[in-house]
Amino acid sequence: MERFRLFTTQPIEGPRATLRVDASRPATFTIDRRIFGNFLEHLGGCVYGGVWGQILLNSSFERDPRISRDVARLPWPWEPLGDVKATAVKMAANSELSARLEGRGPEAGVRQRVFLPSHRESRYEGYLYLRAEGDVNRVQVSLRNARDGGEPLAQAELQGIPGTFRRFPFRLQVDPEEAPPLRPVDFCVTFTGPGTVWVDQVLLFPRDAVHGIDPDIIKVAKDWNIPLLRYPGGNFVSGYHWRDGIGPRDQRPSYPNPAWDGMETNQFSTDEFMRFCGLIDAKPHFCVNIGTGTPDEAASWVEYMNGRADTPMGRMRAENGHAKPYGVKLWEVGNEIYGEWQIGHCSALENARRYRAFSQAMLRVDPSLELIGNGEAADNDWNQTLIRECGPLLRHISLHPLVSLPGGLQDRFSLEEIYYSSMAHPWDFEDRFLPNLRSQIQADARTPDNVTAAITEWGIIVGGEWGETLRYPHAENQGGAVYSGCFLNALIRSGEIVSVANITGLLHGGGMKKRREKVYVDPMYWALKLYADSGAHKAVATAVEGACYSVPRRGFLPAVERVPYLDVVACLNRSGSELTLFVTNRHLKQDQEATLELEGFRFEGGRMRTLEAPGMLQRNSEEDPDRIRPRDSVLTDRGTSLQCRFPACSVNAITLRRAQPKA
Ligand code: AHR
Repeated sequence: MERFRLFTTQPIEGPRATLRVDASRPATFTIDRRIFGNFLEHLGGCVYGGVWGQILLNSSFERDPRISRDVARLPWPWEPLGDVKATAVKMAANSELSARLEGRGPEAGVRQRVFLPSHRESRYEGYLYLRAEGDVNRVQVSLRNARDGGEPLAQAELQGIPGTFRRFPFRLQVDPEEAPPLRPVDFCVTFTGPGTVWVDQVLLFPRDAVHGIDPDIIKVAKDWNIPLLRYPGGNFVSGYHWRDGIGPRDQRPSYPNPAWDGMETNQFSTDEFMRFCGLIDAKPHFCVNIGTGTPDEAASWVEYMNGRADTPMGRMRAENGHAKPYGVKLWEVGNEIYGEWQIGHCSALENARRYRAFSQAMLRVDPSLELIGNGEAADNDWNQTLIRECGPLLRHISLHPLVSLPGGLQDRFSLEEIYYSSMAHPWDFEDRFLPNLRSQIQADARTPDNVTAAITEWGIIVGGEWGETLRYPHAENQGGAVYSGCFLNALIRSGEIVSVANITGLLHGGGMKKRREKVYVDPMYWALKLYADSGAHKAVATAVEGACYSVPRRGFLPAVERVPYLDVVACLNRSGSELTLFVTNRHLKQDQEATLELEGFRFEGGRMRTLEAPGMLQRNSEEDPDRIRPRDSVLTDRGTSLQCRFPACSVNAITLRRAQPKA
């Protein structure tokens, strides 16, 4: 493989390294920008409470039996307010349950504690469905100060409540001084008893939401320069039925998320996701349900996305406001279907059978699709079965080389040992697993040689309690950023065998965060952005002479030898006018000094971006969002060599401008 011919490491002692880059020896493959892809899943606060700007959770009052079966109480996160008997019972306004509020005193109702994006917007609009029994004719919708005895910050009065459900729009405006950012407020629906009011489908949007999508999320995601966005899961997809999520939003069903905590209201789904992709200039990458779904269901989704407006599903799409086919090319057939945590998990042979059935049905609708079969990053036999059974139908094989920390390692190894083993993982994956997969593909006569790996989830994720993310390297701290630098370098060097990759993830794992309606980013966001912004087009020959370390097998993490502290790739942009070096220093404590020696490239100035932090566990928060972000410096040197210093535990990008030949 070119990876072994063009990129070499020579271990030497001491913290001074030499980086030899030969720009006249480019790789034969170009860098597929899709390796800087991302992943959005219906999980936690990623979609509801994340991308989707609607502020209230469980807007249709459904009960999640995994949280409570207590029918005498309102479902999470709704709470009764005042003198009321509040229950959620079947009386559907286009959903299963509705809140029944039997008011007895001067004030009765429901409330939900929320945060407002007051840093940018003070105006809100929404609607709810109401019906009344008895003498109640008026209902108030309000935002109240949660800390200050419930003083109203804004209120709207709705009159003429009928005996059958009717939709009532409302508008609210708060004074930002009275409702500063990050402070809780209560959203309340109240009336004067005695009497009974039924409430359902309560939605509250900031007025600046863009077609329902959070404008802060749009801005930060767009700045991220995401070429490709995978959706809707993840584990979620194996219980997802796309038809639930199209058409008028009020008529879409709500139910517990099949894979994760929380409710799935289907308010954000296919068309909303496509809108989001358009707003952030990302290409969509869909994953279909092979857990509880059928080949027909997947094929009809393809027709909904790509069929002409005179096909049955294309017509449905046109009726939903999108006459022009979306033309989505990249489709993944199933998610981690090998794992017993996956809904509908199965054997390797059954995965191959499903892949054949699903891919044939999907390709019948659109033969131009680029499909990804469900592979396994820790099991060559699994992949061998897929290759043997489905070779001619394959284009990509998915892998999820996720590192889940602490994953039991915490009882046997020190934090430093866990760190160094984790940072060696990308090296091992690149050095051993990917070349082996390539050999498996090449050895099978019926499998086209251009079948590549699609690393549709990667990163250090939580393999324990969520709170533990603070104590180990993780996608949300600087350790995750260093891991990203190592992993992205590995992907660039492995361009012959990898053409798609999606980090975990847009709003979970390392990426963007939205807490208390404030959007901020993890260090890993910046690491990825250094690459996505660079215009890197072709890697060139790079030899690193520098200090290395070796780790023994530690739990699920492999033994790896000769891992360089400085992980380096060098890439030319498309025109050859710029050379960018991506350098990650894995060393936890020592800065690394390096001499860069260039062949085939004389430079004249440039810039350096450095993402460093005072330790691997450092992170950003909604209160301190800019703690870790890249530092930029201008380089005024010229010639063919450069002295550089790479701080401990850092990710760096040095971009050098090619010197113009003298006239
Ligand atoms: O990203 C969270 C989960 O991690 C995904 O749903 C699953 O595919 C992976 O194991």
